[in-house]
Amino acid sequence: MALPDSFIQELKARSDIADVISGYVNLKRTGRNMVGLCPFHGEKTPSFHVNVENAYFHCFGCGAGGDVITFIRRIENLDYIDAVKLLAQRAGLSMPADGVDDKTARVRARIFEANREAARFYHHMLYRPQGAPALAYLRGRGLKETTIKHFGLGYAPPGRFALTNFMRQKGFRDDELVAANLAFQGRGGGGVDRFVDRVMFPIIDLRGNVIAFGGRLMGDGKPKYLNTSDTLVFRKSSNLFALNFAKNGGEKRMILVEGYMDVIALHQAGFTNAVATLGTSLTVDHARLLARYTDEVVVCYDADAAGQKAADRAIPMLRDAGLLVRVLAVPGSKDPDEYIRSFGDQGPARFKQLLDATGNDVEYRLQKIKAACNMESSEGKIAYLSGAAGVLATLDSRMEQEVYAGRLSEEVGIQKTAVMQQVDKLVKKRDRSQKTKQFREIQQRVSGQKDTVNPQRAENLRAANAEEALIAYVINNQDMAKTIVSDLPPEGMVTDFNRRVYQTVTGRILEGRPVDLMDLSQEFSMEEMGRLTRILSAAPITGETWESAQEYMRVIRYEKEKITASDIQSAGLDDINQYLQKLKELKK
Ligand code: UTP
Ligand code: MN
Repeated sequence: MALPDSFIQELKARSDIADVISGYVNLKRTGRNMVGLCPFHGEKTPSFHVNVENAYFHCFGCGAGGDVITFIRRIENLDYIDAVKLLAQRAGLSMPADGVDDKTARVRARIFEANREAARFYHHMLYRPQGAPALAYLRGRGLKETTIKHFGLGYAPPGRFALTNFMRQKGFRDDELVAANLAFQGRGGGGVDRFVDRVMFPIIDLRGNVIAFGGRLMGDGKPKYLNTSDTLVFRKSSNLFALNFAKNGGEKRMILVEGYMDVIALHQAGFTNAVATLGTSLTVDHARLLARYTDEVVVCYDADAAGQKAADRAIPMLRDAGLLVRVLAVPGSKDPDEYIRSFGDQGPARFKQLLDATGNDVEYRLQKIKAACNMESSEGKIAYLSGAAGVLATLDSRMEQEVYAGRLSEEVGIQKTAVMQQVDKLVKKRDRSQKTKQFREIQQRVSGQKDTVNPQRAENLRAANAEEALIAYVINNQDMAKTIVSDLPPEGMVTDFNRRVYQTVTGRILEGRPVDLMDLSQEFSMEEMGRLTRILSAAPITGETWESAQEYMRVIRYEKEKITASDIQSAGLDDINQYLQKLKELKK
């Protein structure tokens, strides 16, 4: 499975980390580093650093970090091999032949094939006698033949093995169908269809692969829509329905709706820039994904309370991703699909009118606050003003704030400077609480409360710190590796994660193989790479003496013995005395 070291060396030489990251993040040079706004968490002041010399990135805000491959894995949502492929392509390198037959890559390829075959099957079933009700259902919802074809809609027939049997004939194994989430494992161990008697909506990624399905019941029942759970090729939190079409629409803005049918109705009406999340509310990943393809998003959620609540949640996330946000509420209908259909042939024109008249979200939010205040009374006006100031405080642009403050002052009959004073006060307060929040998060991470990479770290802080310093030392002083390993073999490490790192690193050095971050990134997850980066960036590169390395080893041995001793404690007094004696000796 492993890629040859020589290939990684070549890729390393041809993939300048600053170059690659600049394609995604606006980087500014500060001394030896480059900094920018972290693409992996929302922030207003840059804490994302790129160390060009040592070819790694690290965010002090969220802890993301690693080599250039890890960066691509994270930002493109790819697994290791696909990230390498992308970088290789960029660098004009062809992949080594034996590098691709990695096991997960194989399973992923089979899932893609299975999904494609299943989509064909479902679509075909729509035109078979047993699919007649499904076809009638789609037509009854106003879909034209071309739309059904364009979206590749289909029908999952009743029975528990319709798809499974078909796929077996096509040479797919049941475990592959389960991995694709097209089937689940039945009691007898064999596959059983996941989608039964449902209208099927295939979900297609930006490369044209079928990655998942949504299936709707035609009658009442629950769940109304059943979606593919996350698989090796699908993460619902970072995919959008119809983005494959919308990104080619050439429109400068996109329309974000709630449901599959809303998207399809809009596309049919000529609004091919509509997308939807997939049975989940909007995530930061979704917002970032949108921001890569457009500058402006029109949020057009359902008119009910749930839809409005979802919009209130989505708007700040979209803004934080740097998008201009507008809000469109469809009057008199449940959702955009119903709105368009309720006007028959006039539907598209009516929707276009709404779209053109859409205000930005500031106006929408001000309207909402105003509607809740009694503007006849002075209490009402004050309530409106303070609510409105709260809205203005969330704006990043001073000019925007000034414009709205001007309007408010006219509306309510109060000096504009008074409005701005209130806004400034709220901005300061918000900044403070944001800083506190960030600080707390960092503290939590540092103190290990959320440490998923090395869960033993918090309880063994002294040992873990020494282990990490020793790992950095051995990487920076590779000629000492042999001596160090014989003094302290990997078994002597206290925490499991650091033991694994130590073992991998020293093992490679002793085999004469490279140990740059990029060489290690095949063996560690994205989160683990972030930790490795921190371990290496925290250590001084030069000036560490052999004495300090020996001190690290002494600490690790002492801490290890302490743990063993406390394990033994229950065993009996003799042993304890024996161990205390040993501890004393070690301490000398
Ligand atoms: P809605 O309940 O608003 O349905 O769910 P809809 O889109 O208007 O569907 P129709 O018009 O009745 O066919 C909005 C979206 O939420 C997800 C789906 O993605 C759906 O399109 N959803 C809803 C689920 O994933 N599961 C459910 O059971 C319901
Ligand atoms: Mn609907």
